[in-house]
Order: sequence, then C-alpha cells, then structure tokens
Amino acid sequence: MDVHDRYEGALSLLRRPDGLIGRLVRGEPGFQARIAEALAGAEKQLQDCAAGAPDPRIAEVTGHLVAAGGKRLRPLLVLLGAEFGESWRDGVTQAAVISELVHLASLHHDDVMDGAETRHGVPTVHTRWGEHVAVLGGDWLLARAAQLAAALGAEAVRLNAHTAGRLVSGQLRELTGPVPGEDPVAHYFQVAAGKAAALLAMSLGMGAVQAAAPAPYAEALTEYGEQLGIAFQIADDLLDLHAPAEVTGKEQGKDLLAGVPSLPVLLVRAGYDDGDRELRALIDAGPGAGAADHRRALELFGRSPATARARAVMHERLELARTALGPLPDLPARRALEELCDVVALRSGRAETGPTT
Ligand code: FPP
Ligand code: MG
Repeated sequence: MDVHDRYEGALSLLRRPDGLIGRLVRGEPGFQARIAEALAGAEKQLQDCAAGAPDPRIAEVTGHLVAAGGKRLRPLLVLLGAEFGESWRDGVTQAAVISELVHLASLHHDDVMDGAETRHGVPTVHTRWGEHVAVLGGDWLLARAAQLAAALGAEAVRLNAHTAGRLVSGQLRELTGPVPGEDPVAHYFQVAAGKAAALLAMSLGMGAVQAAAPAPYAEALTEYGEQLGIAFQIADDLLDLHAPAEVTGKEQGKDLLAGVPSLPVLLVRAGYDDGDRELRALIDAGPGAGAADHRRALELFGRSPATARARAVMHERLELARTALGPLPDLPARRALEELCDVVALRSGRAETGPTT
C-alpha cells in the first residue's frame, strides 16, 4: 500500500456506509467535506511521521501499526471537538495526529503486556520484532507526539504529558490491582478513567482548544470524553461476555478466562444479588475449572442481575456524556457526538455495529 492509497483510505472511512465515521459524520455537506479532508490530512501526516523516522528499521517498526489501520476514533474526536471553535488552524490536524500517536504507542506496550498475537488483523509488533523493539518503538511514537505537541504550545505539551501519565497509571493500577482495603469497583473506575477515558477526553479538548473554542465548550467536550470513555470500557466488558466469536473475532469470554476483573465480574463478586450465587462460585473457582464451567458461567452471565447492573451503569455514563454536551451549540458535530453514545450502547449488545477502540 503506498502513501496515496493510505490517504485514500481515510476518505473511504467516510464513504463506507457501514463505517463508524460514515455513520457519525452526516448531515451538512460542508461538515462532511471538512471532516473528510482533515481526516485525510491527519492520515497523511501520521504516515509521514512513521516514515520519517531517522532509521529505516525504526520506520518499519513504528509504521507497522499505523499501516494496520484502525477506526481512527481519536483523530475523529479531535476534529469533532474543533467544530466548536472559531477558526480551523493547522494545530487541529496536528492534534489529531498526536492523539493517534499516543494511542498507537500505548498499543505497542499493551500488546507486550498482554502477550497478544494480533492487533487490527496483523501480527503485533512484538510478535514480529520482539518485545524490546516493540516497547522502544512505542516510546519513539510517544516522543514524536511530544515533539508535535511542542509546536502547538505549552498547553498542548501539558495536556499530552498529563494524558500519557494517566494512561500509564491506569495500566499500572490494573496490573497491581486494588490496594488492601480498596473497593474493587472504585478501583475499576480509576483504571477505566486512565486506560480508556483519558485519551478520548484529551482528543476532544485539544481539538476544541486548537480551533480557539470558548473555554466552557472545551471543558464540556472534555467531560463528555471522560464519561464516554468509561461507558466504552463497560461496553467492552459486556461484549466479552455476550458476543460470539463470529461477531468479535475473538473467543467469547476470553477476558473472563484470563481473569480480567471486568465490571460485571466485580459486581457478581460484590455479592449484591442472591441470584448470582452459582455464578459467584464459578468465578471464585477460577479459570482452571474447565470448559464446561466456563460455558456455564457465560450462560449465567447472560441472565445475571450483575450484567443488568453493569449495563445500567453504562447507560448512566452515556447519559452523563450527553448531559455534558448541554452548553454546546446545536451543530452537526454535536449530533455526531450524541450518535456516538447510541453506537456505544448498541456495541454492548450487538457487536457488529459498534466500533473498537
Ligand atoms: C488496552 O487495554 C490498553 C490501553 C488502551 C492502554 C494501555 C496503556 C499502557 C500500556 C501504558 C503505556 C502508555 C503509553 C502512552 C506509552 P486492553 O488490553 O483492555 O484492550 P485491548 O483488547 O484493545 O488490548
Ligand atoms: Mg490488550
């Protein structure tokens, strides 16, 4: 695939009738054209960033996940945030690139930590080049993001650093688990805020600031991103338990088997509902209990009160996200953000229509 094809790829995201971006970016032709053009520009800069690495070997490693694609949700959020500004500057496209670079850097690291074999349908970076190279490649992408942020000014540098720190602490907290006496559900929300919400919030806020949006708009968009990110994480948790492999491309209950403390699992463990007694025993027995128990656990999750509670919490977060949009004018971008809440809700139940983060 050459650079031209990749550039075209960004536009095709918008044209694809079934795609996330095509679904969100609707209505006014001017709005669609602006987003399509900016996305394509950001895509080209992203490709150039990786290709511009000082050594062809680094370029190959850092370009691997860039070329693999993904939904480019974070760049889209930057652009939607910028729609609430007064002037569209070059900084908006740069912010879109920064958000994706930080995301890709975190995936380099996350895939090493998870021992994942594939990402976006291609072998993970560490599978091809080894763990050390994968981690350092991620560091290089992060450094590149910092360099781009420096061109946008002190506030962008601060926000980028703050967000990278939140991603790392979210991941670290997940790794170390709750400290003795800490409520596991409160711990879950802290992890999700760092891992899932921080970068979505940054994307929207940075887009707004770079387009010179009024401060209350940037704050509203940031809060929307925080709430949406948590809802996204819960939707992911529900998807793992309820979506068959044909739909997601990964084994149903893979996270459950790996012992990931998802929100539904934590709510079962918290013991709110007597109806979850059998499920609680299966979870406490651990993943080593065998395939029949795993299948039974998935079946019980299908009708568990904990699943219903987790879904209700997800809807609460989506409602908070929608409410956060209150101060914003009624623009096509606002409608796109509202629609994104519907997409996340749908994702938790019908995987085929929702985005992956
Ligand atoms: C995916 O989680 C992981 C993240 C979104 C964040 C990972 C963060 C780090 C590794 C910290 C380092 C950060 C930087 C910026 C270098 P998942 O494993 O639950 O989801 P998955 O199914 O997509 O892998
Ligand atoms: Mg992972």
